[in-house]
Amino acid sequence: MEQKLKDLKEEFQKDFAKIANQQDLEVMEVKYLGRKSLLAQLFSQIPALEQKERSVWGHRLNYFKEEVSSLLREKRQSYSTVEEAWDLTFPGNFYDTGSTHVISSVNEKICSIFENLGFMVIEGDEVEDEWHNFEALNIPLEHPSRDAFDTFYLDIPSKNKGKYLLRSHTSPSQIRVMQKIKPPLAVISPGRVYRPDEVDATHSFMFHQIEGFVIDKEISFSALKGVLLYFAQEFFSQDAKLRFRPHFFPFTEPSAEADVSCIICQTQERNKRNKPNKRKCSVCKGKGWLEILGCGMIHPKVLEACGIDFKKYRGFAFGMGVDRIAMLKYGINDIRLFYENDIRFLEQFKV
Ligand code: DAH
Repeated sequence: MEQKLKDLKEEFQKDFAKIANQQDLEVMEVKYLGRKSLLAQLFSQIPALEQKERSVWGHRLNYFKEEVSSLLREKRQSYSTVEEAWDLTFPGNFYDTGSTHVISSVNEKICSIFENLGFMVIEGDEVEDEWHNFEALNIPLEHPSRDAFDTFYLDIPSKNKGKYLLRSHTSPSQIRVMQKIKPPLAVISPGRVYRPDEVDATHSFMFHQIEGFVIDKEISFSALKGVLLYFAQEFFSQDAKLRFRPHFFPFTEPSAEADVSCIICQTQERNKRNKPNKRKCSVCKGKGWLEILGCGMIHPKVLEACGIDFKKYRGFAFGMGVDRIAMLKYGINDIRLFYENDIRFLEQFKV
């Protein structure tokens, strides 16, 4: 037994010194630690020894086995690090980067289209007073939007301007700008707005709007149509069409709502070519038109409230919902998706 262990140790030392690659190492592992190894044979002789001897040999063989395993283990680690360091096909490390939220990128895209036309971007205030949010915009006290059910009022009185509130639309930006800057003006004003609506697939207590307006001496409704058509074609598609329907807003006269031809099903185009859609489009519900904004010629009372001579100056204004436009553009059917921070949803819009 003594001699056999001595021989085995010597042989191991020689073999270990000769290891040149990973294959040699694997052969060594089988030869010295495998089930049929010489060491295993020595272990199998223990039961035949005398009682006293058994535990001594048990310890000695285990000690040697530990030594062999740790030397081979170290060798194996040195191989794996050397090879990884030089393996150029090994996958790299990926780091997740943040990206612009889809609402922000749609917002930026819309603003940049108007900037190309010479509009200036000016943001308004999210906390407004009743005068800027309603009165100056010709919205009378009895108007339903002034009801506490439709506006978040703050418990702080303002100086002569009614109560403070969270603005319910971006239109008060018109007033703020007109009070500070003299016409001619071409302004685009994006931002958050707040309404105490019950949250569902199409409503949120906070959403985004973009207000736009132009004031000069010779401004007509046809200029409004031209600007909005340019926007629709740049934003949705070069073949987009616009339709204006008469509507009522207190701050514009005349007023209209504008629809864009459905970019998803292109029903308008198909009808013209006599090739109607067989399936009803889920975005426009088969109507072929999508409502995108409200607009009109600025009411003289609004100009007057801002100290602008309405006999000399005229203007047009429009307001659109950014969330709604993003939903239409990408066929998203639930506004809540924008605010849940689900990376799987947001990642689809990573640019
Ligand atoms: N402020 C309106 C709203 O929140 C949108 C709007 C309509 C803005 C017509 C305008 C406009 O400037 O001319 O529903």
